[in-house]
Amino acid sequence: MLSAWLLSNAFSPVSPHADALLDRREAFQTALLGWYRINRRRLPWREQPSLYKTVVSEFMLQQTQVKTMLPYFARWLDALPDFAALAAAEEAQVVKLWEGLGYYSRARNLHRLARDYVARPAPPRTPEEWRELPGIGPYTAAAITSITFSAPVAVVDGNVVRILARLAADATAFRDSTAAAKVLGPLADTLLNPAAPGDHNQAMMELGATICHRQNPLCTVCPVLDFCAARRTAEPEAYPRLAAKTIEARTVVRAWCRREADGALLLHRTAAASRRLAGQHELPSAEHLGLSAAALAGAGPLLATKKRGITRFAFTEPIYELPSSRVPTPLGDGLVWVVQSVLETVLMTGPHRRWVRELLAR
Ligand code: ADE
Repeated sequence: MLSAWLLSNAFSPVSPHADALLDRREAFQTALLGWYRINRRRLPWREQPSLYKTVVSEFMLQQTQVKTMLPYFARWLDALPDFAALAAAEEAQVVKLWEGLGYYSRARNLHRLARDYVARPAPPRTPEEWRELPGIGPYTAAAITSITFSAPVAVVDGNVVRILARLAADATAFRDSTAAAKVLGPLADTLLNPAAPGDHNQAMMELGATICHRQNPLCTVCPVLDFCAARRTAEPEAYPRLAAKTIEARTVVRAWCRREADGALLLHRTAAASRRLAGQHELPSAEHLGLSAAALAGAGPLLATKKRGITRFAFTEPIYELPSSRVPTPLGDGLVWVVQSVLETVLMTGPHRRWVRELLAR
């Protein structure tokens, strides 16, 4: 029976283990769902769900972990409790509520989505209809429509890729998680519980986040251990086989510059068109100031050296004091003096907000 189904769906299993798993998929679904219904984290968008809460949570979770976004989610719901409130809000308020979460195009897309949503006669219900809205890719469309409308579509994010590759002990060497998601997508769709697609998808994500960790997975308490081929291998952690990311070191020399007359701080405001940083203020780099890194480093004492990772780059950012007499007049593109009384109200990225507070407190 299964073979006939497979033929009719033109699906080729990723490994012989996947075939065995599909033979037992109803037992798998039952074990997974039973575990989720008892053990899930009681998250605010799960306990009294609504379409709006699901959409906001999925946007926030696109590049951010649950524990980081929880306080943002609470503040957001207080200030903008539904689509109508969000649609009516000023962009400045929306972006300010997002401050610190990063990837600000998500906030702008969510704002545009709300305006589009309230202008429609009826809510979109299918993944295809949701894909027409700003900021919605295949993953978010599947999450929203399966959770809210029980659409039978599987969510395949990095967590789900890891679970599927381990269940099937799939030894394919993938370029990255996106490539793996394409190959493993059909397996995810076939494993989906048609009676509860939303909970099934959330259970898969929850299993990846709380049990099937990238390193040191908690196999002894895994609800689907019996179905997992990787745990019968020497090293379950070896799956999925993803090409190692090449990390590139980058140095950005930054300036700490206070205007002599009133103590205003020199900042750089990123152009509105930037996807990651649109409209955000940061401490200016040597490049923003039209100086070489060496010239900025030679202009005053080193105040701090910050390190952070952004995507595949490892950034080192030394911050040097710069006398305000060295700042070109008129100010270069994007440079602004911000007086201290309004410093907390301008948009600033999370790391720069921390650095500015720290340096002001000295
Ligand atoms: N990541 C993205 N969406 C999620 C959800 N609904 N539950 C847990 N983790 C998630």
